Amino acid sequence: MAFPANRLRRLRINSLVRSRLAETEVSSRQLILPLFVRPGRGLRTPISSMPGQFQWSLDRLIPEIQALVRRGLRSVLLFGIPSRKDNRASEAYAAQGIIQQAVRAMKKKFPDLLVITDLCFCEYTPHGHCGIIRNGHLDNDATLGLIAKTAIAQARAGADIIAPSGMIDGMVKTIRQALDRQGFQNTLIMSYAAKYASSFYGPFREAADCAPRFGNRKSYQMNPANAEEALREAGMDIDEGADIIMIKPALAYLDIIRRVRETYHVPVAAYNVSGEYAMVKAAGQNGWMDDKTVAREILTSIRRAGADLIITYHAKELL
Ligand code: PBG
Repeated sequence: MAFPANRLRRLRINSLVRSRLAETEVSSRQLILPLFVRPGRGLRTPISSMPGQFQWSLDRLIPEIQALVRRGLRSVLLFGIPSRKDNRASEAYAAQGIIQQAVRAMKKKFPDLLVITDLCFCEYTPHGHCGIIRNGHLDNDATLGLIAKTAIAQARAGADIIAPSGMIDGMVKTIRQALDRQGFQNTLIMSYAAKYASSFYGPFREAADCAPRFGNRKSYQMNPANAEEALREAGMDIDEGADIIMIKPALAYLDIIRRVRETYHVPVAAYNVSGEYAMVKAAGQNGWMDDKTVAREILTSIRRAGADLIITYHAKELL
């Protein structure tokens, strides 16, 4: 039926109609706030390329989380910046490592907060690569041993979900086996299944002090040109035991989110990364765009593409 029997503008006529008929919603339930934690006291160090984001010491972070939980924060993703880096990334799996301390503190203080831990070694090694380097190359299978140890340390500290982000082949299988062997059958795995070698991670590398000192991450992270390969990555991770599949970055990869959503029947997460946040904030600070409404529009697009969960630095302002 055509005009004038049909007038699509009727569906947009006022905010009552518009809001009742919205197909997509972004709610606090779906948002995961990334946080950078470091050892020390009294620290709330601003990250210059990510306005509104900080590196926290635990004593300052806990009251901040308290306030955010009151405003509806439900989930956090923790990144650690250790005081000491070494070639075996020891601080990543030390019982007193910063992440383990942070998880214990948060699970104790905020029993209703879902605590997710990033599992990667670039912050913990002097060379800034995501595992063990041998002859200038990331040694995949040698890295798996460290991944197993770290997963157990994080689960033992009380993490609800372990999120391996190194794009190491076999990481999900290794983690699932290690967790199951230690009695952590109920700890979930959210795999960074399709993580692209992206320039959008620039600000994060300042935030987490994890830029590679030589070379780049292209031999483990994916080529932005590839989509079929992302489906293979996701399929393998699901077979290995991933509970949730993550796509990263989000905005330049909405097609990947959609295809993974349609191909597999698992929860899908998308990481709205540091560079995506920095662009919006920079334009906002210059008065070039309204960063608040742009952020909402971007998050809506990520939901519309098919993401169930969104990891985003905007979570704070949206709450
Ligand atoms: C580390 C890691 C990175 C991000 C999350 N985990 C950086 C990288 O792979 O270089 C990026 C997150 C962001 O940009 O917000 N493996």
